[in-house]
Amino acid sequence: MKALPPKASRPGHWLFGPAYHARRDPLRVIPQWISTHGDIFRVVAPFGQATIIASPHLAQQVLVDRASRYQQKSRAYAVLRILMGDGLVTNSGESWRRQRKLVQPAFHRRRLDALFTMMLDRVEACAASLEKRASERTSLDVAPVLSQLTLDIIARAMFGTDVQGAAAEVSSHIATLNEFALRMLRQPWLFLLPRRIPTPFTRPAVRALRSMDSIVHGIIRARRTSGAVHDDLLGMLLNACEEDSGQGMTDEQLRDEVMTVFVAGHETTANAFAWLLYLVATHPGAEEKLCREIKAQWPEGGLTLEHLAAFPYARQVIEESLRFYPSIWSVGRRCTEDDELGGFRIPAGMNVVIPIFYFHRSERFWPEAARFDPDRFAPDRRPPPEPLVYFPFGAGPRSCIGNHFAMQELMLMTLVFFRRYRFAVEPGFEVTEDPLITLRPKHGLRVRLEPR
Ligand code: HEM
Repeated sequence: MKALPPKASRPGHWLFGPAYHARRDPLRVIPQWISTHGDIFRVVAPFGQATIIASPHLAQQVLVDRASRYQQKSRAYAVLRILMGDGLVTNSGESWRRQRKLVQPAFHRRRLDALFTMMLDRVEACAASLEKRASERTSLDVAPVLSQLTLDIIARAMFGTDVQGAAAEVSSHIATLNEFALRMLRQPWLFLLPRRIPTPFTRPAVRALRSMDSIVHGIIRARRTSGAVHDDLLGMLLNACEEDSGQGMTDEQLRDEVMTVFVAGHETTANAFAWLLYLVATHPGAEEKLCREIKAQWPEGGLTLEHLAAFPYARQVIEESLRFYPSIWSVGRRCTEDDELGGFRIPAGMNVVIPIFYFHRSERFWPEAARFDPDRFAPDRRPPPEPLVYFPFGAGPRSCIGNHFAMQELMLMTLVFFRRYRFAVEPGFEVTEDPLITLRPKHGLRVRLEPR
C-alpha cells in the first residue's frame, strides 16, 4: 500500500506541532514548509491533519479532474454554514449540483449589463462622499468605506428597489455576521459554546441573523404573493427551475442562496480593491500609466458598459493585484473516497489545502514574483489557463460564480476612484496581511487622498 504524504516537522510548537505556526503566520510558514518538504506533505495537529499541495498538476487533480472526490468540509466551512445554511459555498454532492444549475444563470455575463448603471451610480456616490476628506487632506481608513460600498451594491443587485430603505440595515446585519464568523475562526474555542443559548459573544450575531432572516423571508413572501417579475438577482432565483421537473427552490433554499451571495460577494471584492488601492498608491509607475489611460479614454458623455473594453491597463492592474493579494488566499477540501496524489495515499477523510497565494507568489511560476507588474497580464504575456498557477477565482466546477460580477465592480471602482483622487498611504501606517477566510489588511488601510 502507498505511503501517506511525508510529515512536515519544522517549524513546530513543542505541544501543538507545526500547525501552531501555520495558524499564526501561514503566508510565511507554508512557503517555508514547501521549500523543505516539496509539493505534497502532511501537517499533523492535535485534532486532525491536512495535506498541503503546491504543484499545479496536483491542484488541477483536486480542484478540476477529480473534483467529485474532494468536497468542502473544513472548519471554515462549518463557520460559514451558520450564516449561509446550505447555500452554494457550503453545500456538496448532488444537492450542490442542482443548486449550482439553478443559480448559475443569474450570474451570466449578460445579466450583469442590467446591473451596470446601479453599480456605477453606487461607486460614484461613494467616491463623491470622500470629497470633503480630500479637500481637507485628512486621512481615513478606506477599508470600512469599501466594505460598505460592496455591501450596498450586492444588496441592491439582489433585491433591486425592494431594499431601498433597508439597504443600510441589511449592510449592518451582514457586517455583524461577518465579524462573528471572523472571531469564531480566530478563537476556535468559541466552537465549544452552546449555540442555542445566547451569550454576550453570540447575542449580536443571533439578533442579526434573525433580522436578516425576517427581511429575506419577508421579501420572498411578498414577491411570491404579488407574482410581479423583478429584474434583479432574487427575481432570477425565484424564477429559476429545473428543466426536467420544472421545480424551483423552496423558501429556505432561496434564503440560503441569498445569504451566501451576500457573504461571499462583498468582503472578497472590498478586500481586493483595498489591496489594489495600496499597490497602486505605492507604485508610481503603474499609477501614472493607469491614470493616463483613464484620462485619455474616459468618454465625454459618461461611462457605459461598452466603454470598459477601452481600459485594458486597468484590467491588468486588477489581475495583477489579485495575483499579489488573492482575496481567497487558500481553498480547502476533504477527500471523500480513498485516492492517490503524487504517488502518495490520500485516505477518505483527509483534509487537503491548496494555498492559492503560494502559487501566485512563487518564483517557480512567475519571474520576479515579488514585483508588482501589471504588464505581466498584457495580452501577449498573460499566463495560459493551464498549468494552474493563477486562479484567484478558484478552478473547476466550484470556481467562483460571481467572477464577472466582481471584475465589473472592481473595474468601476478602479476607474472612478483613480479618475477622481490621488491616494497615498498615511506615513508611518504599517499595512499587514490578515489571512482568515479572506485576505484582508489587518488594521485597515489609512490613506490620504487629494483631488486630481
Ligand atoms: C474579487 C472578488 C472575489 C474573489 C477573489 C472570489 C474568489 C472565489 C473563490 C476562490 C471561490 C472558490 C472557493 C473554493 O474553491 O472553495 C469562490 C466561490 C464562490 N464565490 Fe467568489 N470571489 C469573489 C467575488 C464573488 C462575488 C462578487 C460573488 C457573488 C456576487 C461570489 C460568489 C461566490 C460563490 C456563491 C461561490 C461558491 C461557488 C460554488 O461552490 O458553487 N464571489 N469565490
